[in-house]
Amino acid sequence: MTPSTVAPHPLDEISLGLIVQIRERLLKAQAVGTKVYRLESGDPNFSVPPHVLEAVNKAGAAGKTHYIPNSGIPELRKALAEKVVRKNGIAGVTDEDIFLTNGAMHALYVTFGALLSPGDEVILPDPMWTEVGENIRLAGGVTVGVPLRADRDFEYDPAEIEAAITPRTVAIFLNTPQNPTGAVLSEQTLREIAEIAKRHDLWLVSDEAYEDVIYAPHKHFSIGSLVPDYAEKVVSIFSFSKSYAMSGLRTGYIVARSPILHDRIPKLLRCTINGVNSLAQWAALAAVTGDQSQLAQMVSEYIVRRDALISALSTIEGVRPFTPRGAFYVWAELDPAIYARLGVADANELSDKLAAIGIGSAPGSAFGQTCDDAIRFAYSCATPMVKEGAEALKHALSNPDVLHGRTPA
Ligand SMILES: Cc1ncc(COP(=O)(O)O)c(C=O)c1O
Repeated sequence: MTPSTVAPHPLDEISLGLIVQIRERLLKAQAVGTKVYRLESGDPNFSVPPHVLEAVNKAGAAGKTHYIPNSGIPELRKALAEKVVRKNGIAGVTDEDIFLTNGAMHALYVTFGALLSPGDEVILPDPMWTEVGENIRLAGGVTVGVPLRADRDFEYDPAEIEAAITPRTVAIFLNTPQNPTGAVLSEQTLREIAEIAKRHDLWLVSDEAYEDVIYAPHKHFSIGSLVPDYAEKVVSIFSFSKSYAMSGLRTGYIVARSPILHDRIPKLLRCTINGVNSLAQWAALAAVTGDQSQLAQMVSEYIVRRDALISALSTIEGVRPFTPRGAFYVWAELDPAIYARLGVADANELSDKLAAIGIGSAPGSAFGQTCDDAIRFAYSCATPMVKEGAEALKHALSNPDVLHGRTPA
């Protein structure tokens, strides 16, 4: 029998995610009793508010466990339309403009699937959370990275965005607060980006998954609120994962005003999920309409964690941490001289050595083409773990014997 050959497939070009691999390694180490610090991934450790769990139980007991409308249950679509008008200032949004998805991840998949044809280019920040580029490529699109720089506080540079536009560009992607840098786009920058989109007739895809994780005096602005005259070409993406610690309930949503997207998005929703899990939607309704006081409590806890990490990293020669303005990541640029001092080849090996001694991180190369000399630490795990982890990290980055496991941490 001749061996069968399998033709190359676009999925072969998509990674399973470096951060997922690091997470699995740490979980395995934890399972055999090793002390680990989960600074690699962004999953809020907070409990889901009790009234949200109650809503799940109530919906289950009431038999709300059958097929639901493809784009979301009407009660939730209505509540979310009111929320984006009231809280995000996006005028004129109605229930019909809201599409429930399996988290913001699925919202990205659906949005790019609905917008892109093979070869279409999307401008995105570099560094950027890996899955954005993967979803663009999955839809046949081409990513065009625009570097973010420390001297601009990692804000997207509108002039560089404009310079990256080609006849194949169809969309500008933006994310504020941003993963991995913790940058926040100012109102002024958002207005400039919107003007560019208008001048070149481009879609604006705005990922606002971290809208509620923002540190004063910085404020979250939705680009959709700034360009009412361009509303049809703005797609806004939100999530319940970060605001309400509902990451496992996989609930997010798209706000889209364009008739063509109203036609295309439901087709992709029907063929991928045929509606988000009904109980998760009742949970989301309780979350968005109920008491919001946990948002402020969560942010004050994140500030404690952020400060612990920043103060530990700031003492280490060759490490330049950026104090995040939103989200829950510390992005630290590395002076390449640090590699020789620590006996590693690059940030990838540094991250690998840290994982070997139980400290999670994500190397810059996981996020783009221009950020090899950087590393990201997440602080969404419990405060004592972040505080102890910050100390362990300081110790490991100051002492090659600790980093290489020759001396216990
Ligand atoms: C920028 C950004 N967008 C979207 C998501 C996806 O969130 P979810 O699918 O849990 O809603 C994440 C998750 O980390 C993220 O960092």
